[in-house]
Amino acid sequence: MIIVTGGAGFIGSNFIREWLASGQEPVVNLDKLTYAGNLKSLADVEHDPRYRFVHADIGDRATVSALLRETRPRAIVNFAAESHVDRSIQGAGEFIATNIVGTFNLLEAVRAHWDLLSLSEQGSFRFLHVSTDEVYGSLAGQEPAFTERHQYEPNSPYSASKAASDHLVRACHHTYHVPVVTTNCSNNYGPYHFPEKLIPLMILNALVGKPLPVYGDGQNVRDWLYVTDHCSAIRLVLANGRMGETYNVGGRNERTNLEVVNIVCSLLDELKPRADGNSYATQISFVRDRPGHDRRYAIDATKIENELGWKAAENFESGIRKTVQWYLGNQEWVQSVTSGEYRNWMDSQYGKAAE
Ligand code: NAD
Ligand code: DAU
Repeated sequence: MIIVTGGAGFIGSNFIREWLASGQEPVVNLDKLTYAGNLKSLADVEHDPRYRFVHADIGDRATVSALLRETRPRAIVNFAAESHVDRSIQGAGEFIATNIVGTFNLLEAVRAHWDLLSLSEQGSFRFLHVSTDEVYGSLAGQEPAFTERHQYEPNSPYSASKAASDHLVRACHHTYHVPVVTTNCSNNYGPYHFPEKLIPLMILNALVGKPLPVYGDGQNVRDWLYVTDHCSAIRLVLANGRMGETYNVGGRNERTNLEVVNIVCSLLDELKPRADGNSYATQISFVRDRPGHDRRYAIDATKIENELGWKAAENFESGIRKTVQWYLGNQEWVQSVTSGEYRNWMDSQYGKAAE
């Protein structure tokens, strides 16, 4: 069996659903259930006998160690993290606690467990750390995309905390020989994405007639990857990735934020037109820029494509249509995650005027 941490979040819940659908192997989901973790995202698999949920913090070494002794997993996939850049700018304490100290404690528990395994179990064990392209910093307009050899230059408290976690994972392999592998992925989108992030926020604000807050000039570029393509990359790296290596994952789908928001608006115009006949694009509102806003991210995915044969199945046009359709068809899930805490965040980030 395998352990997935942070499996109640956006990417982790998609990963667990696909894992169970694509094989027989059981999975334990260890999640602290922060504001971003929602068991409703896994409601369709909660009664599957191969699935088990454990409510715990990755930083709780005693609980993690006991779970490792009990379940003897062949692999751990570490998604658990504080993941929202704007929240890290408002206050980075939780990012340091989970992304750095939590990852360190998790690695310590894993290392102690791995030390006691037989040689053959040690050889087949895997710790896969899920990281981000943001650790590489920001690209200028025509600069080549990030390869695995690009220098780390994190610019936000979030990316700095993820960079620190990547270094701890690397050191665990180099010093103690624990078989680790790290993936650095670009912006994901798709079902179950928490609506503090650009695409789901725009869909939900559009539908309730709120402004669509585009930071700065809207010309920042992100490289969008449909979430199930990220999940297929992680499964491949887990199966065939070389230990101690890092693999960049990206969709070769660079878009400015304004392009993304306009595409979301046209899809909504087609699928759920406004009652007054106007386009949702009339709700676009340019707001104060994110402090330290990285201008452009782009991933060169040549290594994972050539070495492991990975290829994204969705392009941006197909993925964004599926995403908008999913949000239109899953308003119950949306209601369940837009709780009091969500409303507090919207107030503190965008002000009451955005209501
Ligand atoms: P998310 O915020 O949607 O989910 C994070 C999950 O981790 C939640 O279920 C939360 O409850 C859990 N969690 C937080 N702190 C925890 C702790 N101390 N112990 C146990 N569980 C804890 O995040 P996501 O978007 O699904 O991202 C998952 C991972 O992928 C993160 O490590 C993130 O840095 C990385 N990543 C995300 C993207 C993206 O575009 N979303 C892109 C590249 C990499
Ligand atoms: O690149 C991978 C990263 O992608 C992950 O590591 C992070 O966990 C994930 O949150 C995401 O980070 P971003 O900061 O790129 O995503 P976000 O959805 O917050 O913002 C995307 C772009 O849209 C960014 O340039 C900021 C802009 N934006 C965002 C929001 C929430 C707006 O213009 N308006 C908004 O209201």
